[in-house]
Amino acid sequence: MERRDFLKVGALAGAGALVGRLDGASVSRQVNTKPIVVSTWNHGMKCNQGALQILQVGGTAVDAVELGVSIVEKDPTTTSVGYGGLPNAEGVVQLDAAIMDGLSMEVGSVAGLEKIKHPVQVARKVMTDSPHVLLVGDGARRFAVSHGFKEENLLTEGAKKQWLAWKSGKKMKVDTHDTIGALAIDRGGLMAAACTTSGLAWKIPGRVGDSPIVGAGLYCDGEVGGCVATGYGEEVLKICGSFLVVELMRQGRSPQEAVEAALDRMIKRDAANAGKLTAFLALRSDGAVGHASTSPGFQVAMSREGKHDLLESPSRVKKKG
Ligand code: GLY
Repeated sequence: MERRDFLKVGALAGAGALVGRLDGASVSRQVNTKPIVVSTWNHGMKCNQGALQILQVGGTAVDAVELGVSIVEKDPTTTSVGYGGLPNAEGVVQLDAAIMDGLSMEVGSVAGLEKIKHPVQVARKVMTDSPHVLLVGDGARRFAVSHGFKEENLLTEGAKKQWLAWKSGKKMKVDTHDTIGALAIDRGGLMAAACTTSGLAWKIPGRVGDSPIVGAGLYCDGEVGGCVATGYGEEVLKICGSFLVVELMRQGRSPQEAVEAALDRMIKRDAANAGKLTAFLALRSDGAVGHASTSPGFQVAMSREGKHDLLESPSRVKKKG
């Protein structure tokens, strides 16, 4: 029987052998897996609260990650994601997002999307309502509008002020808290991943980072696990970061060993990467978690069994002094 017809989704703690059919007719699910959601950075705490609620009432992992990261997309105080995100060099907010279903391994993504507050929801529509994986720029915007999304101004007064200051040559520290990436396992033991970002502040118009690129910003195979990335998208792209982490887990590395090996490869390729904060967060299909960053400062929001924790992540390069 082929993988696409019949997929073993794993034997999770207490769940027994779960088998889900992918022919659309029925998916045999048990409801005794403990849901878990993990996501990147402090803003992940808000994401997880919404996502865990979905999982606790028996919602799917795909719904949970979509809803969770949507909470961050609409929050104007997060300046690296969605509405309120810092714009490109011309003052235009361009958004990237992707979502991946670990059961079907279907993916949808958008890049350089303008005027639409919820790129992850458009990405989900690309996954479910189009034969494609990735839509970019004006085509992505028109696709969104044709699916009922409303066009809005995404540049907040605060973001505009920062952009004008940057344009005038002012030296400034911008929020590097970057992508919100989330991974979840639902009660049926199924997994999903999503990520969404406004990308690097003041980027060259049209620049696309790792977030909407399957295998770079995210990857999820329910048989093994998933991974999301945050930080310098160009560097994550060069090592196919999230795919690499999942494949290392497939080969038997623990999630922690896998994320550390991927970061070490990034640093080996270019030692300067040690000083640029990039991070991976991995979730194995049995609920084991791994996370680490190149340099110190990364945090992970972890939610399970009704508890939400913000964890400091270990870094490959230790703090000086
Ligand atoms: N990691 C997000 C970006 O580089 O756009």
